[in-house]
Amino acid sequence: MELKKWLLALMLGSIVEGTILQNGQVRDTNFPDTKIDLVASDFRTYGANASELSYKGRWDSKKVSYWSAPGLVFGFSGDTVAITFGEHTIDKTLIGYRIGGMDWTFTNVTAGGTHLLVSSKTPGINETYPVNPQRFEMRVSNWGYGVQIDKVHVGAGESLIKIPPYERTIEFIGDSLSAGDFQSYEGLSSFAYGVGEGLGETEYYVTAFPGICVADQECWGNPRGQVHQWFYSSDTSWRAAEIWGDIVVINLGTNDNNIANNVSAEAYVDAYKKLIQGVHGKYPSAQVVVMELWLGFYQYGNSYAQNQGFQQELEDIVTYFNSEEYLSAPVTWDGTTETTKTLDTPSKPFVYYFRTKGILQHNDIGPQWHPTDVGAIKVASHLLQYIKLTFGWDLVATGPEVFHETLYWNDQDSY
Ligand SMILES: *[C@@H]1O[C@H](CO)[C@@H](O)[C@H](O)[C@H]1NC(C)=O
Ligand SMILES: *[C@@H]1O[C@H](CO)[C@@H](O)[C@H](O)[C@H]1NC(C)=O
Ligand SMILES: *[C@@H]1O[C@H](CO)[C@@H](O)[C@H](O)[C@H]1NC(C)=O
Ligand SMILES: *[C@@H]1O[C@H](CO)[C@@H](O)[C@H](O)[C@H]1NC(C)=O
Repeated sequence: MELKKWLLALMLGSIVEGTILQNGQVRDTNFPDTKIDLVASDFRTYGANASELSYKGRWDSKKVSYWSAPGLVFGFSGDTVAITFGEHTIDKTLIGYRIGGMDWTFTNVTAGGTHLLVSSKTPGINETYPVNPQRFEMRVSNWGYGVQIDKVHVGAGESLIKIPPYERTIEFIGDSLSAGDFQSYEGLSSFAYGVGEGLGETEYYVTAFPGICVADQECWGNPRGQVHQWFYSSDTSWRAAEIWGDIVVINLGTNDNNIANNVSAEAYVDAYKKLIQGVHGKYPSAQVVVMELWLGFYQYGNSYAQNQGFQQELEDIVTYFNSEEYLSAPVTWDGTTETTKTLDTPSKPFVYYFRTKGILQHNDIGPQWHPTDVGAIKVASHLLQYIKLTFGWDLVATGPEVFHETLYWNDQDSY
């Protein structure tokens, strides 16, 4: 593998500000301009701390979003929703939003601006089934461009309605591959989002950031690794939120495996084990899925072949967690201290291995070494089926769009 290509590949995503590139061409997107003049509007206004608002993923006490695909969900009466974004919003951040099970719409939002996201003209707004009351959802597409919620507005005389969380929860801990780097709608085109949203009626959290290692060291500009950062993100409130990991999927090691970051196999295994131990201590009943790595493809003579990475190490990690030695005296880790702590009760096996070999082929990876939209969908589809077969989770999404703008078809019956 050429180092230069890797360097290019894992640099943080490009700053696109509402422009989506497709094979080097600007995609025709028609993002509506949703900014309005708040003074001229007649609204009922709620603060960002209103109890009817459900924040998904990690947000801090000032309601600034972090990581990949963080969201905001609430119900409302009437036909109007507007959001005022706080000063800590990165200007022009692209968000996806929708009501009920209608398709996503995207718009770029502004720091300090008020954006009208639902009106009497929004498709589906006058319908009362199958989703009632109307459910609004918003997700941030880029991991690095946080938004801050300042106020949420509904029509005068109308109200926000609390929507209880779904009972199933899945969390992804990863790097750029899980964050959706170089996919069309970034976080909302990633395989992780595709699994979370694709399961249907499931809360999902994508704790992923481009360039990050599992080992606790600087990797591609990230000062710390996930073995630390997952526990102590720049966030104080998320632990109190409604997070509960039933299934935690980990895809880490692509950056550790890169010689530019110089992580030894021992350091990788040590950090990976500590991360799983920490997840186990925090969510004692969670099932953990370790993902086999795919590092990219290369021409091999007159065909193509795949680079993997840390193959034996990942096998050994999964074996360790399923050993009698570990299960009889499981340990946990809190992200900062040097030593691990033994848990009081023995564990049942909870670590699984999801083998990705054979899912992707060379043309599922774009020039920047990340899955294409199709590649992400392939990984998501296989992982969805794996979760269904392994944990008995039914796929209950039976219609609403998951991946936006993936409708490619042929309407010509012969050429
Ligand atoms: C989104 O941001 C881009 C870049 O700043 C800008 O050119 C475009 O007009 C914005 N679109 C809307 C609808 O505000
Ligand atoms: C929400 O409440 C917390 C705790 O009272 C406060 O620190 C924070 O500033 C509030 N956030 C907003 C956006 O009002
Ligand atoms: C919803 O009903 C209102 C009032 O009849 C109408 O003005 C509006 O166009 C309708 N919206 C949609 C999306 O059909
Ligand atoms: C890589 O790590 C090894 C062992 O810790 C160290 O000896 C070496 O100098 C490092 N190389 C680079 C380029 O940082």
